[in-house]
Formats: sequence, C-alpha cells, structure tokens
Amino acid sequence: MNLSVVGSGYVGTTIAACFADLGHDVTTIDIDEDIVAAINDGDAPIHEPGLDPMVSLYGGDRLRATTDYDAIRDTDVTFLALPTPANDDGSIDLGAMKAGAESIGETLAEKDGYHLVVVKSTVVPGTTEDELEPLIEEASGKTAGEEFGVAVNPEFQREGSAVDDFMEPDKIVLGTDGDARALDLLAEVYEPLVADWDVPVVETGRREGEMIKYANNSFLAAKISLVNDLGNICKEYDIDAYEVAEAIGMDDRIGEQFLRSGVGWGGSCFPKDTAAIIQHAREAGYEPPVLEAAVELNDQQPERLLSLLDDHTEVEGERVAVLGLSFKPGTDDIRHSRAIPVIEGLQERGAEVVAYDPVATENMRERFPEVTYAEAADEALDGAAGTVVVTDWDEFAALDEEFDAMADPVVVDGRRIIRRRKGITYEGLTW
Ligand code: UGA
Repeated sequence: MNLSVVGSGYVGTTIAACFADLGHDVTTIDIDEDIVAAINDGDAPIHEPGLDPMVSLYGGDRLRATTDYDAIRDTDVTFLALPTPANDDGSIDLGAMKAGAESIGETLAEKDGYHLVVVKSTVVPGTTEDELEPLIEEASGKTAGEEFGVAVNPEFQREGSAVDDFMEPDKIVLGTDGDARALDLLAEVYEPLVADWDVPVVETGRREGEMIKYANNSFLAAKISLVNDLGNICKEYDIDAYEVAEAIGMDDRIGEQFLRSGVGWGGSCFPKDTAAIIQHAREAGYEPPVLEAAVELNDQQPERLLSLLDDHTEVEGERVAVLGLSFKPGTDDIRHSRAIPVIEGLQERGAEVVAYDPVATENMRERFPEVTYAEAADEALDGAAGTVVVTDWDEFAALDEEFDAMADPVVVDGRRIIRRRKGITYEGLTW
C-alpha cells in the first residue's frame, strides 16, 4: 500500500519505518528539512533500538520524506502523528493537530477517490469527530464518511522499545465507528502483523479508541502510584514492598508488570496524559478523585526520598550525588523526570548537587546549568555526604567500592537498584 505519515517525531518516524518494514511504500511529511534529509539519506533522526537498520535499509527507497503535503495525494492512507503537548493548565494543545488536519484537507481537495486519515497521536475523546474531521471537511470541500474517512488508531509504544512494541503489539485498536471502508484499509495496513503474530484487533468507536489510549496510560500510572502508596505504608512498618509486589503480581487479575515502587513515573506520556484526561473530565463537570490522587502521590515521592536523606544527614553546604537523570533507563529523555524535583529539593536545602547519568547529562545541563555533572558514577560519589538514586540504570547495580569514597556513605535508593553492602547506610524508598 501507499501510506503517508504526517509528523516525523518519535512516533511518526517509528511507525513510518515499521510500515516500510511490513512491505508498504511510506512517505513521511515534516516541516523540518534536516529530518527530511536524514530520512532520505537513510539516517534515523531519533535514537530508538532497531530503528537505525530499518531507516538505513528503506530510507530514500520504500521510506521517503518530504516537506510537501501534496505527497499525500499519491497515498491511500495518511497517519497523523503530530505532537499534542500540554497547555499550562494541563489541558491538551491541539494547535499542531488542527493545522495538520487543515493542510491534509487542502491537499485532499485536489485528490480523486477515497482517502483515509488516521489519527495516531493521543487526543482527548471527541477530538477526531468534533474538531479534526470538520476541519478536513471544510478545507477539502469534501464529505466525511463518503469521499474521505477519519479513523483513530492509538499507539502503545514505550520509549526504548517502540519498534518491538509496534512489531509485536498486545493489541491493535481501530476506532472507526464501524466505517467498513476505513476498516478494510486499516486491515490491509496491519495485515502482515496480524497474520504473523495473531494480534487481537479491537474494532471500536472513535471516541472509545481515543479513550482507550488515555485509560491505558492512566491505569498504568495509577497502578504505579497505588504500588507506591502501598510501598510507603510498607516502609513505615519495615516491610519489604518488593516481596509484597511480587506476590500480588502472581494474581492474574493484578499482573506482574508495573509493580516496581519507587520515586514515581515521569516521561512525556504518563504526566501529560493523566493531566489532559483529568482536565477533560473537569471540563465536563467531573473531578476524578483516583486519578487526581495518583498524580498527587507521584508529586510527593521525590520529597519522601529526600526526607529519608534528611533523617541521616544535614545536607546544607554539603556535596550530594544524584545518580540517574533520565525519566527511565535506556533514554536521554528528561521530560518530567523525577530527577528534576529531586535536584530542586536538594537545592532548596542548600546542597551542592553533583549529578551523573550515562546519557542524559547534556539535556539536564540545559535545565540546571549550575549543577556539577560528573563523567562517571565514582566521580559523583567522591566526597559526597549523601547519594540519591533516581533512575534504575543497570550500571548502578554494579557499584560497590565506589561508595567508600563518599564523605558520609548514606545512600537513598529510589529505584531498588543499589546492592546493599557493608560500610554504607542504605535506605530504600519503599522497602
Ligand atoms: C508509556 C506507556 O508504557 C506506553 O505504552 C505508551 O505508548 C507511552 O507511554 C505513550 O503514551 O506514548 P513510556 O513513557 O515510554 O511509555 O515509559 P514507561 O516504560 O511506561 O515508563 C513510564 C514511567 O513509569 C518511568 O518513569 C518509569 O520509571 C516508571 N515506572 C514504570 C515505575 O516507576 N515503576 C514501574 O513498575 C514501571
């Protein structure tokens, strides 16, 4: 099939390369000329395991990039993968999506035959039907549901395993309100995946499709917050929260994943999506208490981590090591990383922060230029009066004698990654 993908960010580039790998001809459209040139040269514009070989193999061939929306006319289906950032109040900013929908509509005005537009980005329920479809209709002068269709097909790809998550998904959600033509085209797009992996396909409404994405992320974020809540209780009574979590995870109704308690969730998705759906609920007059509590608890965990440090040492004027800056291991992404409130809390206490991360240092330097950044973990630990661990990078599990160089070896672990040893005062956040 001939597919186009509008937006060559993290989601757009990954799905475009994966579609090419499934055998489709794919054109990506982006305003950024550097990204366009990179893809055509076979270079992936973002880092994601498994992406480089695909872009190198198909870039400039079955995977092409352009800044020109007219390329859409040569394709059957267009995936809309533009960013949906947050406004100051947490509500979703649909500016880029609306502009993209208008541009698609203008292009479709000149196209003969049916075209399907698929909303891949995360948008609050009702957006596709109430906002995007009318814009395409107006700009194209065509009738929705007859001359073109607009479907919803959310992604469930994690940073760091986006390619694998695409290629072997737990489910494919197709929100079409039962539009047979849209369903046929989407079935053809995903046919190689469904045939190879027997992936369940959820055929549903467009609002339901949009809500499934928010429900998925909200559930996972709230699951972690609940396990953190329980972990905080465990800590008060000297109970090992990880043993408790392992046991409850054996209950199929609970499931073993996303039960790692600690300093909380960050990243570009859980914080943004929980905020957006809470705000969307409020606009309808409903305050969702469980989700609000999940966010509140997540906001409290960094301060709980630091209060454990306070229990052992007075950090004012002292050097404190922060291990891990990215929001999770395997990425240099620091968006909503728990390291941000941890550093702020240490600065409020008057500590001298020395931070180390294997890959995220440069990103954090832009945010906190005044912080000292170490080249290696042992350099950060040297002379420190305390260490706080924020990200569960594997290399931290191997730290051992390096702790001997601390002035006062108090280690507060927010991710259960540090190996306890003689000579350090170890505090786990929830165990
Ligand atoms: C998340 C979802 O997992 C994806 O399914 C979804 O597609 C994506 O958002 C999105 O909406 O695009 P991601 O943000 O890449 O993916 O990261 P996760 O691996 O889910 O981790 C999120 C945060 O939860 C991290 O800060 C991580 O450290 C934390 N976490 C995760 C825990 O604190 N405990 C756990 O047990 C698991």
